[in-house]
Amino acid sequence: MSARGMVKSHSPIMTYCRIPVKIANDSETDAAAAVEAIKAAGVSSLDVVIANPGIAGKFSRLEDIAMNDFKEFAEVNTYSVMRLFIAVHPLLKAATDKNGPCSPKFIAISTVASRINKLEENVPFLLGSYGASKAAVNYIIRRAHIENDWLQAFLLEPG
Ligand SMILES: NC(=O)c1ccc[n+]([C@@H]2O[C@H](COP(=O)([O-])OP(=O)(O)OC[C@H]3O[C@@H](n4cnc5c(N)ncnc54)[C@H](OP(=O)(O)O)[C@@H]3O)[C@@H](O)[C@H]2O)c1
Repeated sequence: MSARGMVKSHSPIMTYCRIPVKIANDSETDAAAAVEAIKAAGVSSLDVVIANPGIAGKFSRLEDIAMNDFKEFAEVNTYSVMRLFIAVHPLLKAATDKNGPCSPKFIAISTVASRINKLEENVPFLLGSYGASKAAVNYIIRRAHIENDWLQAFLLEPG
């Protein structure tokens, strides 16, 4: 394959290509545009998509949270995952045709701060905005897994 912006590399076990795209997580259009760009470069399916970005750096009791900050957490941590999922869904589905059901994977990065059970253990850490934004991600990913019987959607929780 060759395309403008595509970097082709070799490892002992596979040949792979890197196609740089930009997705600003507060952009309504970047995720869809990124999918169009990789399709134009010849990609017709995706086996694995990882929604990694997240912000966590503001700490307040709920009553002290500025709503602008709360919205920023939702935008970067939650809406970005939804926008990415919607954008890549057709290419993930296309991977089942090639490799069989349950081969495509959509993965998001969650956190112990999002857990509702055992919340008491987290309350000393003032992670209300972060935890709420990631709890919504947990729901989205669980729901994506159940709604799409051909897809493995799951969370990784580094801490
Ligand atoms: N570190 C931990 O202990 C920990 C624990 C639990 C969960 N997590 C989760 O793990 C994931 C990665 O975190 P990390 O610790 O590796 O953090 P990090 O090094 O700060 O990386 C955060 C990533 O988010 C992107 N990002 C931040 N704000 C953004 C914005 N407004 N728009 C677009 N992209 C933005 C950054 O992109 P740029 O590089 O382009 O700035 C970067 O790729 C996050 O989802 C985080 O919530 C981390």
